[in-house]
Amino acid sequence: MKKSTVLLVCSATQVFAHPGMDRVLAEIQARDDFVIGARSGTLLGDLLSGVLTAVGQAIKDILQLGTGAIDPGNGGSYKPPGQLGSSACNSDPLCVWYYVANQMWGDFADASGCTDMGRGAIRQGFHDAAAWDVNSAYGGADGSLLLSNELSRSDNRGLEEIGALTKTYYNTYHPYGAGMADIIQLGAIVGTVACPGGPRIRAFSGRKDDSRAAPTGKLPVPSMDAPTLIDLFSKKTFTASDLVALVGAHTAAKQRFVDPSRANSPLDTDPQIWDASFYSETLTGNNKTFFILHSDKALATYSSTKGQWNSFAGSSGQSLWSPVSVIFPYDKLLCSY
Ligand code: HEM
Repeated sequence: MKKSTVLLVCSATQVFAHPGMDRVLAEIQARDDFVIGARSGTLLGDLLSGVLTAVGQAIKDILQLGTGAIDPGNGGSYKPPGQLGSSACNSDPLCVWYYVANQMWGDFADASGCTDMGRGAIRQGFHDAAAWDVNSAYGGADGSLLLSNELSRSDNRGLEEIGALTKTYYNTYHPYGAGMADIIQLGAIVGTVACPGGPRIRAFSGRKDDSRAAPTGKLPVPSMDAPTLIDLFSKKTFTASDLVALVGAHTAAKQRFVDPSRANSPLDTDPQIWDASFYSETLTGNNKTFFILHSDKALATYSSTKGQWNSFAGSSGQSLWSPVSVIFPYDKLLCSY
């Protein structure tokens, strides 16, 4: 996987060409076991207004699987106009992000795929963004995970090292305009692409940082059963189908604190790559060669999620991720200004 495939960003909205994406989408829409309508298209905040900026329209399209979701553009051709800190770089809003992404790539990818830091970055993006629901007055993808004391919460155990590394990115790039919330979310995207097979996800910048600690009790824990997880995620505007797709991130995961006696056990056989075998392995694994979270097993076998789980576990499971841009709905509140 080439470094040049990674990039960016809100003010100009770049992403990656995906040959055949329209065909893949058509195939998925034709499947009756993957109900595209079951994916949330819920809009929030100023996306509900009739007047949208180009970025707002792009985000709306992605959320509702419109044109913008099918045609992601080609961010791989971007070349920075100058060194970090040069006046040419300072006057191009994409430039600083090129340098951030490049440094992340060095930390998140190695010859075999994604590293511990890459996997940590994916989880970190989720934990900053998901500390929010529709009843929250604040929270979400606002950088508070690292700008407040949230890392000391038990929910966030295991994020200490990636949190410390991300703070060094912030210290380096914030003087050039990079905010913490955007750095964290870009890290999740770079981490995902660093795992071979990981979907390319359009990245946006422009979130507003907030140093207030996010509301508690919004993150899932592995002892939860399926109905509780579905309810928790529905309050974040995700459907049960969205949840099954998102939790596939555990294809690139290790556990350390659920069972410390098995610390560093992966959640599937190959945590360095992003493949759909996580789904079949969760269904059939014996919880010995790799670690199966109770919550994952619950989603794999529950009446309203097992159909979708089986679709991912099937032979075309990998392709189901490709056209799905995983955007946390509250990002659009912070980005479409
Ligand atoms: C059903 C809801 C979820 C539950 C209960 C859950 C729970 C967990 C737990 C307990 C761990 C192991 C932490 C440790 O002991 O070090 C973990 C790891 C991880 N989770 Fe989740 N998670 C959920 C959803 C998600 C989602 C939606 C994402 C991303 C979009 C995600 C990404 C990750 C990643 C990448 C890791 C591996 C981190 C590493 O290897 O350092 N999880 N999760």
